[in-house]
Amino acid sequence: MKKIIKNGTIVTAADTFFGDVLIDDGIVVMIGVDLESEGAEIVDASGCYVFPGGIDPHTHLDMPFGGTVTADDFETGTIAAAYGGTTTVIDFCLTNKGKPLADAVAHWHAKAKDKAVVDYGFHLMVSEVNDDVLRELPLMIEKEGITSLKVFMAYKNVFQADDGTLYRTLLLAKEHGALVMVHAENGDVIDYLVAKALEEGNTDPIHHALTRPPELEGEATGRAAELTGMADSQLYVVHVTCAEAVNKIAEARRRGLKVYGETCPQYLTLDVSYLEKPDFEGAKYVWSPPLREKSHQQALWDALWNGQLQTIGSDQCSFNFKGQKELGLGDFSKIPNGGPTIEDRFTLLYSEGVEKGRISINKFVDIVSTSSAKLFGLFPQKGTIAIGSDADIVIFDPKVKRTISAETHHMNVDYNAFEGMEVVGEPVSVLVRGEFVIRDKAFVGRAGGGRYLHRKRFGQAEQAAVKKLPIGGAR
Ligand code: URP
Ligand code: ZN
Ligand code: ZN
Repeated sequence: MKKIIKNGTIVTAADTFFGDVLIDDGIVVMIGVDLESEGAEIVDASGCYVFPGGIDPHTHLDMPFGGTVTADDFETGTIAAAYGGTTTVIDFCLTNKGKPLADAVAHWHAKAKDKAVVDYGFHLMVSEVNDDVLRELPLMIEKEGITSLKVFMAYKNVFQADDGTLYRTLLLAKEHGALVMVHAENGDVIDYLVAKALEEGNTDPIHHALTRPPELEGEATGRAAELTGMADSQLYVVHVTCAEAVNKIAEARRRGLKVYGETCPQYLTLDVSYLEKPDFEGAKYVWSPPLREKSHQQALWDALWNGQLQTIGSDQCSFNFKGQKELGLGDFSKIPNGGPTIEDRFTLLYSEGVEKGRISINKFVDIVSTSSAKLFGLFPQKGTIAIGSDADIVIFDPKVKRTISAETHHMNVDYNAFEGMEVVGEPVSVLVRGEFVIRDKAFVGRAGGGRYLHRKRFGQAEQAAVKKLPIGGAR
């Protein structure tokens, strides 16, 4: 079924122009003015922006963590993502030491397959490198198209890998064309500081932040960057929160290293004072790395604007306050780490970024969509509106003013970290491969409607051509 999205302002990472988009069979086949095509459904986008669908490169859906499981699974999480303007998520597939990687990937496929309503891919966690991993990893990259590997430098005795494992993963990634992602905090020192705080009777949520200072994020970021340089490999630092880490990334990039960074909406808008909320409510704001002093926010905005950081991930990792965050009553180290952010990522960046003059509208598209498509092997199928690209499109009304609230959100969780925040703009309709998933603010998609994305190797996305179409694009 053909569709023409008419009279919107089309915005990509490069351009802003008024026009129409003709979609056929899920693909953008023509972009122009006053387009017509027999039998095409007309979708009016007057007064709206027409953006490429958001790509969220960092989600944890249906993930066991901290003695419980995230409140949002692939169905509720991706419905919320779609409401928020995100049409692709890349989720972290956890692995178990000593167990085949293929089993972990099959397990993650089973979680997502009949549930996801938007397209999805997986990153693969690496916590050890041994003969089995050396044999299996290239297969995961080749056969599964999982071209990004995640190493945790923190969460001692849970996920943390040692530096040797990180270095060997970087070497493997270099050889096979994958991007290594790190959670960069010094887990060993944090482990000591946490034990000391608890011994001294400091059990409240604020001590989560006090035992994970920015120096430990900066140190781990610098260490990972240095090892990347030695391995001549490529590194993506997830959830960067502070000036210390930004500086290490900037320094590595100045030296010509392939080091990239992501931050998240929570670090741009919330600060450490939220952890001091009374009645244990501070637990709602427990992320790792933690929220920082407000002064770090400017460093993050500057880094997004000047290209030292390239992307925005949600780090969606939702836990209910009741029954889940409460696991840490009397011991902050038992509060499950993470929060619900998948739905508001896109609009928060528009509202706090574009509306407040911190970033341009094209930079906005770049950081919420295009850069992730390029870094994670999806461009130009995803991440732009171009002839031959998937018709993943957000029709966004920039005139709407609204207040974020758990009362109205679609995530399966009992609070919203951005409760009460006033934002400008809202996705009105969202299409994935040319099909409405959100239409006039109502969900019309289908559980299982999302497709698994076999991704290209690192560095190959930008060289790839879009699907071959007849000259002129129309079919
Ligand atoms: O607190 C966080 N960030 N939770 C999710 C897991 C992770 O470290 O990304
Ligand atoms: Zn992390
Ligand atoms: Zn995460």
